[in-house]
Amino acid sequence: MKKKVAIIGATSGIGRALAVEMHNRGYTVGATGRRLERLEELRNQLKTNTYIQYMDVTDLDDAISQLDQLKKDMGGLDIIVLNSGVSNYQQESVGREPDLHVIDVNVRGFANLGSYAFNLFEEQGHGHIVGISSVAGLFGWGLNIPYNASKSFVNTYLQGYRQKANHSDADIAVSTIMPGFVESEMTEGKKDLFWVQPTKKAAKQIAEAIEKQKNEAYITKRWRLVGWFVKLIPNWAWNRM
Ligand SMILES: NC(=O)c1ccc[n+]([C@@H]2O[C@H](COP(=O)([O-])OP(=O)(O)OC[C@H]3O[C@@H](n4cnc5c(N)ncnc54)[C@H](OP(=O)(O)O)[C@@H]3O)[C@@H](O)[C@H]2O)c1
Repeated sequence: MKKKVAIIGATSGIGRALAVEMHNRGYTVGATGRRLERLEELRNQLKTNTYIQYMDVTDLDDAISQLDQLKKDMGGLDIIVLNSGVSNYQQESVGREPDLHVIDVNVRGFANLGSYAFNLFEEQGHGHIVGISSVAGLFGWGLNIPYNASKSFVNTYLQGYRQKANHSDADIAVSTIMPGFVESEMTEGKKDLFWVQPTKKAAKQIAEAIEKQKNEAYITKRWRLVGWFVKLIPNWAWNRM
C-alpha cells in the first residue's frame, strides 16, 4: 500500500511541486499552508487522495493541532516533509524584526513540528521525517544572514534526530534535503543567482531521495559540487569574500 505523506508548506514552489510529484507516484498527500485558496486549487487539480489543512507554522500550538487534524483526516501519516520556509535574500529589510521572523518560521516552526513528528513516529513504530534545508546551511552569508543560520540549525537538528532514530526501537528515517537555487516565489525576480533549477526537476529528485530514504541529498545533484567547494574554503578567506 502506498504511503501517506504530509507536506508542510505546499502552497507554492518546491512544496507544491513535491505534492504533485508524490501524488503522481501514488501517495496520499496532505498539503498545508496559510493560503487556503492555493490549497483548494491544488486539491481540485489532484482530485483524488488529497487532503488540505490551513497551517501557520509560527502559531506553534495551533500548528500541532492542525497537523493532528490532518493525520486524523488521512487515517495516519508515514512521512512528514517540513518544507515551510522564508528567506531575506540581499537583506531586503534589515534589523531585528526580519531576522526574528526568519527564525520564527525556519527554526521555531521547524523544530516544533520536527519534534512532534519524531514522537509520533516513535509511538507508532515507524515513519520518515524529511527536512527541506538548503546548501545555504553550509556557510554564513552576509546577503542572507538569518536564513543561512536557520538552515545550519536545520542540518544539525536533523543530524541529531537521525542519530537518535538509530537508537530507537522504531523504524524511523530522517532525511536532510539541501536544494541549491530552485525556481519558486523565494527566488523569483532575485538578481545574481546561478544554476537556478526548474521546480519540477527539483521535486522529482526530492521524491527519489525520499523513496530511497537518503540521509542527505543535494537538489539538484550538481549542487553537491558547491557543497564540496564551500567546505574547502578556509574561514580567513571566506570572511573576506
Ligand atoms: N527556492 C530555492 O532556491 C531554495 C533553495 C534552498 C532551499 N529552499 C527551501 O525550500 C523550501 C520551500 O521554499 P520555496 O523555494 O518553494 O519558496 P516558496 O515558493 O516561497 O514556498 C514557501 C512555502 O513556505 C510556506 N510558508 C511560509 N511561511 C509560512 C508560515 N508562517 N506558516 C506556514 N507555511 C509558511 C508558504 O506557504 P504560505 O505562504 O501559503 O503559508 C509556501 O508554501 C523552504 O524551506 C526554502 O528555504 C529553497
